Amino acid sequence: MSAFDPATLRSDFPILDQQVHGKPLVYLDNAATTQKPRQVLDASRNYYEAMNSNIHRGVHHLAQVATAAHEEAREIIAQHLNANRTEEIIFTSGTTDSINLVSNILQRSGKIGKDDEILISGLEHHSNIVPWQMLCEQLGSKLKIIPINDEGTLDLEAFDELLSSRTKVLAVTHISNAFGTVNPVKELCAKAKAVGAITVIDGAQSTPHKNIDLQSLECDFFAFSGHKIYAPTGIGILYGRYELLEELPPWRGGGEMIKEVSFEKTTYNDPPFKYEAGTPNIEGGIALAAAIQYVNKLGMDVIETHESALLTHASETLKRFSGITLYGPDDRAGAVSFNFDGIHHYDLGTLLDQMGLALRTGHHCCQPLMARFGMTGTLRASFGIYNSLADIDHLATSLERALNMLR
Ligand code: ALA
Repeated sequence: MSAFDPATLRSDFPILDQQVHGKPLVYLDNAATTQKPRQVLDASRNYYEAMNSNIHRGVHHLAQVATAAHEEAREIIAQHLNANRTEEIIFTSGTTDSINLVSNILQRSGKIGKDDEILISGLEHHSNIVPWQMLCEQLGSKLKIIPINDEGTLDLEAFDELLSSRTKVLAVTHISNAFGTVNPVKELCAKAKAVGAITVIDGAQSTPHKNIDLQSLECDFFAFSGHKIYAPTGIGILYGRYELLEELPPWRGGGEMIKEVSFEKTTYNDPPFKYEAGTPNIEGGIALAAAIQYVNKLGMDVIETHESALLTHASETLKRFSGITLYGPDDRAGAVSFNFDGIHHYDLGTLLDQMGLALRTGHHCCQPLMARFGMTGTLRASFGIYNSLADIDHLATSLERALNMLR
C-alpha cells in the first residue's frame, strides 16, 4: 500500500491531465524526464514576473533580489544533498555538462598522465563514457571498464582486480538509467579512494528516487540534472569536494569566474564561481530549489517506499507474460526494462503510444550495455511520484492487447 496518494498528487501536474490519441495519458518515461508540478512552474514564472535581472553584478534592487534567490537556491540544494559547504554546489546545465566539467578540469590539472587509467562501468550512459574517452584521447590515458554480470549488475570481483595505483578516476553511475540497477557506490568510492583515485558519481537517476547524503557517500564529485527531479531542463548540479575545487583549474573562461583580469594575467574567483563562467540559468536554479522543496515536503523516504512498491508490482506483473526478458536485478530502482521474444521494442512502444502510454524504447544512450546483452534496445517503463499501481495494471492490459496484434 502506498504511503501517499498519487491520485491527489497528480492534480499538481497539469500536463498529466490530458488525452493522447483519445486515451488518458499514462506517463511512464520519467527516467528521460519528469513532469513539473505547479509549485515549480510558479517559481519559474515568479522569477520572470518579479525579479528577472542579472546576478552578482548589479547594485540595483532587482539584481539584489535575483542574486539572493539564486544563492538561496544553492543553499537549499546543498542542504538537500547534505554537502559539507554550500560553495561545493556548482550550477551547470545538466548531468552531461557536469561530467564534462569534471573531465575537462581533470584533463587540465596535470593529475592524469599517459598510461594512467580511468575506470568506468559497462552500465554507463554515453554521458559518462564519451567525456572520459575524450580525456583519454588527449592525455594518452587508458579507459578501463568494470564488466557487467548476466543479471545486469557490476562484476565486483573484476572491479577489485581492475583497481590499482594507476587508477586516477573512478566514474560510475549510482543507478542505471537503462536497467534500474543500483550500484554500491559508497563501497566503490571507499575502495577507489584507498588507491588515491578521484571519484565521480553520476546521480542523474538516483537523485529523484533516493535520499542523497554526500557526507556519507564520500565521493569527490556528484552530478545530477534538474529535469529528472521535477525541475526544468537546462539546469543541473555538479557537487565537488571543496579542497579539490580550490585546487583544480577552471575550464570555461569568462565573466563571473574571475577576480582580476588584465591582458597580462587573470586571477580566478573562489569556488563555486570559478566554475560558473557567464550568466547562469538563474530561473532554472530557483525552480530546481522549488522542486527540491516539493519532494522534501513529500519526504524522500516516503517517495522511495512508494516507488519501490511500484517497481515490485511492475516486476511481478511483467514476469507473468510469456516470452518476456526483464533486465537488471530484482531490487532495481526507477525503471524496469524488458523485451519480448521475436518482437521489436520499437513496435511495441509505438502501439503502446497509440493506447496513451508513454514509454521509452531503444538503447537509452547506453549502446555498450545493449551490445553486452546482444540487443539493439529495450522497452523501458520508468516511474515518478505521480505513478500508481493502476498505471502498471494499465500497462499490463495494454501490453496484452499490443502483443495480440503483433504475435
Ligand atoms: N538519460 C535519459 C534516459 O535515460 C535521457 O532516457
